[in-house]
Amino acid sequence: MSSVPAEVQQRAAALRAELAHHNYLYYVLDAPEIPDAEYDRLFRELQELEQTYPVLRTADSPTQRVGGAVLERFAPVHHAVPMLSIRTETDSGPDGARNFDARIRRELGLGPDAPPVEYAAELKFDGLAINLRYERGVLVQAATRGDGETGEDVTQNVRTVGAVPLRLRGIEAAVLEVRGEIYMRRDAFERLNERQRAAGEKTFVNPRNAAAGSIRQLDPAVAARRPLSFFAYGLGAVDGWELPPTHSALLDALQAAGLPVCDERAVVQGADGLVAFHQRIAARRDALPFDIDGVVYKVNSLALQQRLGFVTREPKWAVAHKYPAQEQLTVVRAIDIQVGRTGKLTPVAKLEPVFVGGVTVTNATLHNEDEVRRKDVRVGDTVIVRRAGDVIPEVVGVVLDRRPRDAGAPFDLYAQLHGECPECGSAIAREEGAADWHCTGGLYCPAQRKNAILHFAGRRAMDIEGLGEKLVEQLVDGGLVHDVADLYALEVGQIAALERMGDKSAQNLIDAIAQSRATTLARFLFALGIPEVGEATAAALAAHFGTLEALQQAATEYAAALALTDDETAAARARRLRGQALQQVPDVGPEVAERIATFFSEPHNLAVIARLRAAGVHWPEAKPERGAQPLAGKTFVLTGTLASMSRDQAKERLQALGAKVAGSVSKKTDYVVAGSEAGSKLAKAGELGVPVLDEAALLKLLETS
Ligand code: IVH
Repeated sequence: MSSVPAEVQQRAAALRAELAHHNYLYYVLDAPEIPDAEYDRLFRELQELEQTYPVLRTADSPTQRVGGAVLERFAPVHHAVPMLSIRTETDSGPDGARNFDARIRRELGLGPDAPPVEYAAELKFDGLAINLRYERGVLVQAATRGDGETGEDVTQNVRTVGAVPLRLRGIEAAVLEVRGEIYMRRDAFERLNERQRAAGEKTFVNPRNAAAGSIRQLDPAVAARRPLSFFAYGLGAVDGWELPPTHSALLDALQAAGLPVCDERAVVQGADGLVAFHQRIAARRDALPFDIDGVVYKVNSLALQQRLGFVTREPKWAVAHKYPAQEQLTVVRAIDIQVGRTGKLTPVAKLEPVFVGGVTVTNATLHNEDEVRRKDVRVGDTVIVRRAGDVIPEVVGVVLDRRPRDAGAPFDLYAQLHGECPECGSAIAREEGAADWHCTGGLYCPAQRKNAILHFAGRRAMDIEGLGEKLVEQLVDGGLVHDVADLYALEVGQIAALERMGDKSAQNLIDAIAQSRATTLARFLFALGIPEVGEATAAALAAHFGTLEALQQAATEYAAALALTDDETAAARARRLRGQALQQVPDVGPEVAERIATFFSEPHNLAVIARLRAAGVHWPEAKPERGAQPLAGKTFVLTGTLASMSRDQAKERLQALGAKVAGSVSKKTDYVVAGSEAGSKLAKAGELGVPVLDEAALLKLLETS
C-alpha cells in the first residue's frame, strides 16, 4: 500500500463505502437515493483507481463481484453447524397452525391457563438455502445445503448476487454465518425465460429451478447474468457475536448489518396469531413479487428454542405451514391456435380442468410453435401446469412416463391449420428466423380488426380525428364496421345513435372521415399496417415507387422470387432476392421485403384496398423516382417551431427526397434544421460542429432538390 498516495487510498475507501451504502439503500431498504447512472459513475471511478493501483482491489470491493474462473466442479464444504430442514404441516387449513402450537405447549409443559406462546411468523421462500460465512465482517464463503452436513462451495456465483453484501455493516465478529434463501423474482424469471426463448435456449420450469440452476453454474459469468435475489432468515456458526434474545430481534440485527430481510413478517401470540398470519399471507400470495410455498413459524424466544431442541434432523421449535400448490398435473385434450390482436398465432393447450394457484384452469399458453416442439407437448399428454401470481397459466413440461400409446403426433402448426388463419382463412406466414406464425390478412381478419382500424385512423396515418379506442369498440361490436373500407360508408345517423355521441360529434366524425380521403401514398402505405412497415419505411416505399401499382408489381415479383428452386443454395437465393426491386429501397432488408410481399399476396387485403380506392381514397400520383433521391444518405434532425409547416410535414418532405430524419443529434447528423425556440438539440449541433439550417435554407433545399 505504501506506493499508493494517501489521498488515493482515502478516495478508494470512500468510494467503496459509498457504493456499499447505496447497495444497502437499494437492496435492503428498497429506497435508492441516487439514479443508476450516478452509481455507475462512482463504480467506474473506483474501477479506474483499482486499475492504476491493483493493491486497492480488496475482497469486499464492489468491483470484485464477478471475475472467477470457470470451474470443473464445486469443492465440498463441511458445515460447521449442520443445515437442518423443518417439519412441514401438510394441512393447509387453520389446523396446521393449531397443531404446531399445541405441540409446543405440550413440550413446554404449559397448561391451558398459561399465556400464549410468542412466535415469529415469516414467509417460506421457494428458492434454495444458502450459508453465507462472514469472517471479521467480510464474506469469505457461500455454500449450498447439500445433504445438510456437506454442501458445495458456490462462493464465486453468490458474490455476483447484488443483494448479498460483501461486507457487513458494523459487525466485526470472528465468525458469523448467515442462512437464507437465494431466489428469483417472478418478473425476473419471466424476462429470463423470454431471453432464453429468443436465443433458442432451454427455458426454466419455475423461478426455483432457475435460481438453483443459476447458483450451480460452473461459469460465474453466466451466473452473473442471472437475476437472483436473497433473503436472510437465520444463523449458522457464530463466534464473537452476542445473540439477541429473540428471533425477530435477530432478523432486525441482520437487516441493520446490511442483509436483506423480508418485510412480510410478524411477531404473533399463540395459535390465533399464527392462523391470522397464515390467512393474511394467503390473501397476499399472488401479489407478492416472488413465489412462496407456505409460511414458517418459529418460537420467538431463542432461550425457549434451546429448551425445545431437536428431533432427528428437525428443530422442534419451527414448522412450515403450506399453501395449495401453484403447479399441478393434468391432461391435454387439444391444442388450439388463437389469433391475437396483432395477428400473432399462439398455440394454447386445452386442459382437463384443474385447480391450481387458486383457480380452475382449462387453458394454458404454449407461447409458440418452437416452444411446443421443444417441450414436445402432444394431445393426450400429462403435463405440469403452473399458475403463479397473475401470470397467465402455462404448460411448463410433459411427464413423458405417462404418455399414452395413442398420444397425438408432434405439433405442426401449419399442417394443423392447413396454412389458413382460423379466424379469417387468410394465408399464414412465418418469416425466416421469426418465432411466431401470423395471419397475413391484417386488413380483413376479425381478430385484428380493432387494432387495424385504430392504426389506420391514427394521426400519422389517415389522420381521422376523433376516431379513438372507445368508438372503434362500439363500431366493431355493433357490426357497423368490419374493416377499414367500411368507415367510408358510415352515415351520421348510425354514429349519432351510439353511446355518448351527439349529432354534432357524429357530424364531425363523418367530416373527418371524408377529409381523410385526400391523403399521400406514404400515409396510405403506413395506414395499411403492414407488419414491419413503419412511417419511415412507408415514406421510402412511396418515394421509390411513386405509385401503388408499381409497389404492388414489385411485391408480386418478390413473392414469386421467394420460392427456392430445386438446385439453388440458400446463399444464391438470398443474392437473387437482393437483386429484386423491393430490396433496392433504402432501409428495406429481406425480412421487411418478405412482409410486404406476403401482405400484397393475400387476396383479402387486396380486396379491402380496392374498396378503399372505390370509396374515393386518393393521393397525388408521383413519377417513380428510382434512384433519383437527392437527399439519400443524409440524416436530418428537426428542432424548434417552423412557421410555414409543422415538423411532421417537414419530416415527410425530407423523407420523400430520400433523407433520414432522426430524433437526436449525433456525429452522424448531417444537418440540424432549427425553427424558432430551438433548444438543446441546437446547442448539441454547435458542440459537434453539425451545420444548422434555418427555415429559409430548408425551404430552398426542398425546392431545389
Ligand atoms: S428456517 C432450522 N425459514 O425451507 C431452521 N427456512 O426445510 C432452518 N426456507 O430449504 C430453516 N424459507 O431453505 C427457514 N423463512 C424460512 C424459510 C426457510 C424457506 C427453506 C429452507 C430449507 C427449507 C427448510
